[in-house]
This record gives sequence, C-alpha cells and structure tokens, in this order.
Amino acid sequence: MSLRLITKYTGGTLPGAEEYAELNELAAAAHNTLENGTGAGSGMRGWLRFASRYPDSGEYKQLLAAAERIRSQADALVVVGIGGSYLGARAVLEAVASRYYNEIRRGTPAIYFTGNTLSESDYAELDALLGDRDFAVNVISKSGTTLEPAVAFRYFKSRLIAKYGDAEANRRIYVTTGASPASSTLYQQALAKGWQCFAVPEDMGGRYSVLSAVGLLPIACAGIDVDALLRGAADAAAAYAAPGARLPDNACYHYAALRYHYYKTKGKAVELFASYEPSLTLFGEWYKQLFGESEGKEGEGLFPASVTFTTDLHSLGQYIQEGRRLLFETVLTFGGPANALAVGEEPGNGDRLNYLAGKTLYQVNRAAFQATAMAHESGGCPNLVLELPKRDAYHIGWLIYFFEKACAISGYMLGVNPFDQPGVESYKTNMFTMLGHPDYI
Ligand code: PA5
Repeated sequence: MSLRLITKYTGGTLPGAEEYAELNELAAAAHNTLENGTGAGSGMRGWLRFASRYPDSGEYKQLLAAAERIRSQADALVVVGIGGSYLGARAVLEAVASRYYNEIRRGTPAIYFTGNTLSESDYAELDALLGDRDFAVNVISKSGTTLEPAVAFRYFKSRLIAKYGDAEANRRIYVTTGASPASSTLYQQALAKGWQCFAVPEDMGGRYSVLSAVGLLPIACAGIDVDALLRGAADAAAAYAAPGARLPDNACYHYAALRYHYYKTKGKAVELFASYEPSLTLFGEWYKQLFGESEGKEGEGLFPASVTFTTDLHSLGQYIQEGRRLLFETVLTFGGPANALAVGEEPGNGDRLNYLAGKTLYQVNRAAFQATAMAHESGGCPNLVLELPKRDAYHIGWLIYFFEKACAISGYMLGVNPFDQPGVESYKTNMFTMLGHPDYI
C-alpha cells in the first residue's frame, strides 16, 4: 500500500463498532452509485479510469511532443486558466519539483500562471517579468468562455503577435479546451488559426482533470515524469477499485467515511488540510477547490481550509489549539528525508542550538509534526494522517487519485452531486450584467 491512513492522533473520537458498521454500508452504497453510474452527475466520471488508458492514446504522444517543442521555442510558458484549469498543474509543479521551480529549473521554461485573476497589476507584473524573453502560451478552458482566462488570453495573445507576428504567434499558442464547437469559442478560434489543440474530456469536470492534458502539458514542459504521475494514479485506481469488506482495508473509503463521521456525528464544520512542506501549499489550494466545489451545496459540506506547518503554527496555531472546536485536520506527511540536511555543531554554542547538532532537518520537522499532532489531538482537534513514502511524481499521482475518489464518495455519502458547481454561476450573472455582456442585458 503506497498511502497509509494513520488514526493514532484522533483522541478517542473514532467511530465505535456499530458506527463503523453503518459507515461501511454508506461507503459501499456510495461506491455502487459511483461505479455503476447511478448517481447525479454520472456523466462526469471519466477520470475514474483515465490514467491507465491515456498513455496509449495518440493525444498523449502529441502532448509529449508539444512539451518538447515548447521547451525548444520558449524560455517562459504562460499558462492561462482558472479553477480546475489551473490549480492542479501548479500544485503538481510545486509538489514534485519545487515552489522555487522557476528559479532552479535547468533547461526547461519558467512557468507563469495567469488568467486566474482580473487584477491589472498582476498582468503588468507578469508583463514586466516576461520582458523580451521568448515565450509561448498554453490557454486552458474547458468551456472556452470563462471571463478571467479569456481576457488574459486576449492580452497575452496580442503580446505574442506584437513580438512575433501572426504566423509565429500561431505556432506558440497551445489550446486545451472542450472539443465542442457549439460551446467553446476557443475551440472555434483554434480551428480557424491552426493552434495546436488538446482535449478536455467531455466526461471530466475541471477539478478532476489535472491528469488529462489540462495539467499534463504544463507539467510535462517542466520536465516532470508524467509517465510516473499517471502510473501512480492508475495504481491507486486499481488499489481503490473495491471498497473492501471493512473500511480500514481501503484507505480512500476509510478517509471519506471518517470525514463524514466528523461532520455528521462529531460536530466538525471545517477540515483543515495540513502539510509540513511549503512546496505542498498549492496542493492545499487544489484540495480546497476539489472538495469545496464538490461538496459545498444544498446547505451541506465541510468547509475545506488549508495550512502549511510549521509556518502557520505561528499564525493560526493559537486558533487551532484553543479556538472554536469546529476543526479536524488531515495532515499529509512523507516518509524519509529527501536530502539528509543536518543541523551543524557550532563552537561556543552561542545560539544554544547544539542540542540539535547532528539531527537532520527531517527529524526536526518530524518532531514538530508529532508534537503538534499530539497537542491538537489533546486540544480537541483530531488529526487524520496521510503518509506517503516519497514526494515524487508517482506518489503525487497516487495522492491525486486518492483525493478525487474520496471526494466523489464523500459527495455521494452526503447526498449531493459531487460533479457540478451551480453556485459558481451567481457571481458571473451579476458581473456579466454589470459589464454589459450581450447575453445578460
Ligand atoms: O472544476 C470546475 O469545473 C471549475 O473550477 C472550472 O475548472 C473553472 O470554472 C474553469 O472553467 P473553464 O475550464 O471552463 O474555463
């Protein structure tokens, strides 16, 4: 088993035998709903088996070739997208490479994410950062009509044309969109201009799409092992294909059931995703979108929040320890040090740190995790711990699938459609009306 769910820091809050039996039944029913396609949104389950099939597709080979071409033609790749068309790629880039990827890359393009804001200064800052460097654009939008990426694409496309002229600009634009000419203006433009186009599968919503071309093209451009990423997800799909006789046999279903238990039985309203690795901060953003959009509807759902420890122990730590008892934590940890960096010995011991001399940073961080988990547990904030052996492409692929399936199962356990997001439309309607969109006046 690649991922372990550890429940030792839960302070007597786990379900009793009878509750476990009920949760087992609920999880098995949600499993049948998901696997048999009998639930709401059943047309959006394409991600369930995608990772094992995609590597054999023609599109995958084209995607790898396109990544190679981008690497040879650009020093910077501008990735335009929002929500599910943005967060997954950035989360994987930072989790597998580094949050400092752009500074430490070797021979691969810098990757800048835009189209996830309407901030003028954000555009201007990226503009300045690009300067006169060679760049390419990957615009990602399933609908092809989302305002934020559409405006950013118009802006950076005109910058490409100004720099290279029409023909060369067209060779530097890569589109990832739904292949429905009726709905995607982006798809229609790509056809007309000859931009290379990749598909957002029709049966996959944005937040479940990171392991399709949506995430894989930018991730491959960064030189990350996308074969391993997909293999990790495919292995997780096989491992979690059946619920198992008892919940603890299947970490994914066990996790979904425990979330439900904390929400419905223990009065918890917030799930706090925590990691002790700053390069996982963006993964926390991806997790929040996945669960927030999937569960938060019809008055239901845990509020998904995220923190990076130990950093946030010095900001939110006080609240977590002693504030309203509405939280439980899901803590992601990794086994084994990556670099074995150790604290040195200092003559004179002026900073009084020689008690740490010879200890690796991994050991110090691990002690911080264990100490925090014990403190939070005794303060009434149970910790579910997810432990992965390594922070690499294979295990991050596994983790992505783990969360996607747990999220779909959680949604069906709650009785909501985990694949739609009707609430996102409200702000859009108001905004389009204010801005004079012809379809809204
Ligand atoms: O998960 C989702 O479906 C959403 O977050 C979308 O990804 C987001 O709204 C962007 O949509 P689009 O890809 O159509 O531009």
